[in-house]
Amino acid sequence: MKPSIKINEESKWIIEETYFNQEWLGKYESIMCQGNGYMGIRGTTEEPYLGETRNTFVAGTFNKFDENEVTELPNIPDLIQMTIKVNDKALDLSKGEVSQYKRSLNLKTGEIIREFHYHLEDDSELAFRFSRFVSMDQKHVISQKVEITSVKGNNRIGIDSGINGQLTNSGSQHFSEGAKHLFEGKYIQMTSETSQSNISMVETTVHEISNAANLSSRIEMRRRQVFNKYWFEVAQGETAVFEKFSNIHTTRDKEHEGKSVEDIEKHGLEELVAVLASGYDTLLTNSAKAWDKEVWSVAPITITSKDHEDQVAINFAKYHLHVMTPAHDNRMNIGAKGLSGEGYKGHTFWDTEIFMLPYFTYTHPEIAKSLLEFRYLGLEGAHKKASGNNYEGAQFPWEAAWIEDGETTPVWGAADIVTGKATKIWSGFIEQHITSDVVYGVNQYVEATGDKEFLETKGYEIILDTAKFWSSRLEWSEEDSNYQITDVIGPDEYKEHVDNNAFTNYTAKWNIQKAIHIYEELKENNVEKFNELNTKLDLDRVYADWLDRVDKIFIPAPNEDGIIPQDDTYLSKKIIDLVPYKEDEQVGTLFHEYNLEQVNDMQVTKQADVLLLIYLFENLFSKEIKLDNWNYYEPKTMHDSSLSLSTHSALAADLGELDLSYQLFKEAIHIDMGPHMTSSDEGIHAASLGGIWQMIVFGYGGVRVLDGQLRIEPHLPENWDNLVFSIFWHGTELKVTVTKEAFEVEVISGEKEVTFDHKGEQYSVTDKQVIKLI
Ligand code: BGC
Repeated sequence: MKPSIKINEESKWIIEETYFNQEWLGKYESIMCQGNGYMGIRGTTEEPYLGETRNTFVAGTFNKFDENEVTELPNIPDLIQMTIKVNDKALDLSKGEVSQYKRSLNLKTGEIIREFHYHLEDDSELAFRFSRFVSMDQKHVISQKVEITSVKGNNRIGIDSGINGQLTNSGSQHFSEGAKHLFEGKYIQMTSETSQSNISMVETTVHEISNAANLSSRIEMRRRQVFNKYWFEVAQGETAVFEKFSNIHTTRDKEHEGKSVEDIEKHGLEELVAVLASGYDTLLTNSAKAWDKEVWSVAPITITSKDHEDQVAINFAKYHLHVMTPAHDNRMNIGAKGLSGEGYKGHTFWDTEIFMLPYFTYTHPEIAKSLLEFRYLGLEGAHKKASGNNYEGAQFPWEAAWIEDGETTPVWGAADIVTGKATKIWSGFIEQHITSDVVYGVNQYVEATGDKEFLETKGYEIILDTAKFWSSRLEWSEEDSNYQITDVIGPDEYKEHVDNNAFTNYTAKWNIQKAIHIYEELKENNVEKFNELNTKLDLDRVYADWLDRVDKIFIPAPNEDGIIPQDDTYLSKKIIDLVPYKEDEQVGTLFHEYNLEQVNDMQVTKQADVLLLIYLFENLFSKEIKLDNWNYYEPKTMHDSSLSLSTHSALAADLGELDLSYQLFKEAIHIDMGPHMTSSDEGIHAASLGGIWQMIVFGYGGVRVLDGQLRIEPHLPENWDNLVFSIFWHGTELKVTVTKEAFEVEVISGEKEVTFDHKGEQYSVTDKQVIKLI
């Protein structure tokens, strides 16, 4: 059956499902995930189906199920489900006859609407319209509405709705049975507590029914569930309206710090009384206004493309980036699947700094700052990891959850198809580039925002402390008389236990160089800060080591063909024909025939590695070297990670390969929004959504910071006539309008003069500057 994801041709804000297919529940649950950074709820249907994954997550409420599992974001009791009966038979779209089906997510307002006609054997017909949203305005509130019209016949409806705590994370039950309350005969409340981290989740819900004849109801308090059962009749031509308002508050919420659970329960109830009084439409209007104020009116992007989908893609990306990002609390960060699925357990990876953070740095610097503060607070965990490995300083965890815990990567993964044994997940042990990736994010943020306060209070320390780690991590080779970094995984996770991964070595050296510079700068110009950090980090001692070591770090240089070896052995490995696998629409198909050990011995790269290095540090390499490496590595890169296509697309744009870049852009935007109907089951691909923004602003807008200097070098793909975007540079908002012939840079807010480079020339703008593109 043809995939049903549809982009509404008339609106750049709507993605649609045009018919119901139970096989594809996971896709829509992820791409239609709703939330506001505080919470995320998968786009499940109200009525339950076999194969669904019903998830609600509250950011940062981690729990560890038992000693054999790692900390994960628990799936909290569900508020969305409603079991609906029509004339005593369960509403079930997979069985009943359905017509005029349509489900849409409005990216602008965050509202899902699902409509269809349902035909019964006795010839009666009903029209259903489900609407719901998670409020952007009141971050704890969820609103739902079901309108039921009897088109033919008089129909009897039964709805079972409430709070369902019988859910788990794929079997792991994170909560002790909750306390249940009923207030004023209609407000239901359930408080559940996580089993190990002892976070109490207070969920309150209330129903309101109008235009329902012969209404009766009964409360049922079952094991881990509180439900209200309703029965009513809808006469032919009539529409009954069933509304449900809910909220979630937890003892982890900053605003509830120091409060007792009873106080939070009281607060939840009081808030819900007011919410009910406002009603669905007012709440939706307020939420839409908040979306507009917080997201859509900030640094908007307009693409005039022959393909309408391109604009939808950036709206889709921005929508999800704000649904998934806990902007309200610097003790939390973004999970690799956002708040949209159990995949990667809610953990934070390098995905944040390298893929999502740039969007926030350039458009919502205050959110970027909060995400980086998470790393600063995470220094405690990073020290734990470093000392546990007998290193000094701060070694950031490959996967992070609680800031103080450090490493949270699971140790065992799926079984190997050849040996049948569980595969060890090595990334938590040896994928070490995360430490310099964090520093990359800090540096980019500081360069783009000029936020000296952050630098002084947190940034310096992160850079110095991580350099301490790298310096202690280096291994002296007597044979080569240099420092090496052996036994690592680079960005290409298909190569485990390699020596001198180029990305790792370059970025480690860069991290130490940054620290040397900061040390000297502070000692010279900011003695007070220097003394403070010197005492805290023993800088005088480690500085001597840095100076001694930095120029002796082995940096894999381009060979006679201009190719930078990905690691010591990559270029001597077997080359196989990857075309059949690359052409396959599914990712990871190589593993249908080979196991990881075998793939380790081939010149095949999971995701951008050397090319990512070139993209991130573009002024380290000449155009020839870039092209040589592009030609070498692009055909060997499987793009089996969603972190890959956007980098290749943006790099191809830099290299002037605009057709290829656009082809990769299309593939990248299809990772979640495209026709692969099971690829998003575990959750949305957060990094690829950050990558969509990067392809547009860094790739086609040509924005980059090179040695602290802003550069703008736009180039549009054939299909685009016009691109308008904004970025914040040192607090000043710049609007950039690009056509095929010229581009214009305009100062929108902020009074500062901004200088930027374009093709080797420096320009400064206080008002407007038009530059012709040759
Ligand atoms: C990628 C990593 C990434 C992780 C989480 C893996 O498949 O190889 O680079 O950090 O997914 O998105």
